[in-house]
Amino acid sequence: MRRIILVGYMGSGKTTVGKALSKETGMMFYDLDWYIESRMRKSVAQIFAERGEDAFRTMEYNMLHEVAEFEDVIISCGGGTPCFFDNMEYLNQQGDVVYLKATPETLYKHLLMAKVERPLLKGKSKEELITYITEHLKERASFYEKARYTLDVNVLDEYDKIQTSVATLRTMLNI
Ligand code: S3P
Repeated sequence: MRRIILVGYMGSGKTTVGKALSKETGMMFYDLDWYIESRMRKSVAQIFAERGEDAFRTMEYNMLHEVAEFEDVIISCGGGTPCFFDNMEYLNQQGDVVYLKATPETLYKHLLMAKVERPLLKGKSKEELITYITEHLKERASFYEKARYTLDVNVLDEYDKIQTSVATLRTMLNI
C-alpha cells in the first residue's frame, strides 16, 4: 500500500503535479481543499469569509484525518496544512510526504496565473504579494522541510515541464 502526500506553499503546483501523477500511475487523486469544499458544500474562500481561518483549520484537520486514511492514493494538501496542529508529524506517519519546493519568484508567477481565489492573498497588490510570499514562506519552511522527500519545481507553465517533474517524482518514489 502506498500513500503519496504532496505539501508546499500555495502555487507550488501540488494539484497540477498530483493530477498528472495520478493519471500516470492510476492511483486515485484527492485534493484536500476540494474534499473540504465538497463535504461542506462551500468554497474555501466562503468558509474563510463566513467562519474565519481558525474554523477552517479545524475542518482541515478533521478532513485530513479522513483522507489520509485512504489507501493507494495521492493527496495534495493545502499550503497551510503542514503548519497547524501536529499535522506534519501525522502526514509523515501516514505516507511518503513530498515537499514541492519553489522560490518566491516561481510561486509568485504561478499565483498570478491561478484562477482559484486564495483568501490569504486576497486584495494584495503585486508588490505586496511578492513581499508576503517571501516572508510567509520563511515562516513555513521549517514545517515543509520535515517532509521525507523534496522535489524542486521549476515553473510549471508547460506540459513538458509538468511531465519532467512527474518523471523525477516517480523515480524518487519508485512508483
Ligand atoms: C492555504 C492554502 C490553500 C487553502 C487555503 C489556505 C494556506 O490551498 O488551503 O486557502 O494557508 O496556504 P493551496 O495551497 O492549494 O492554494
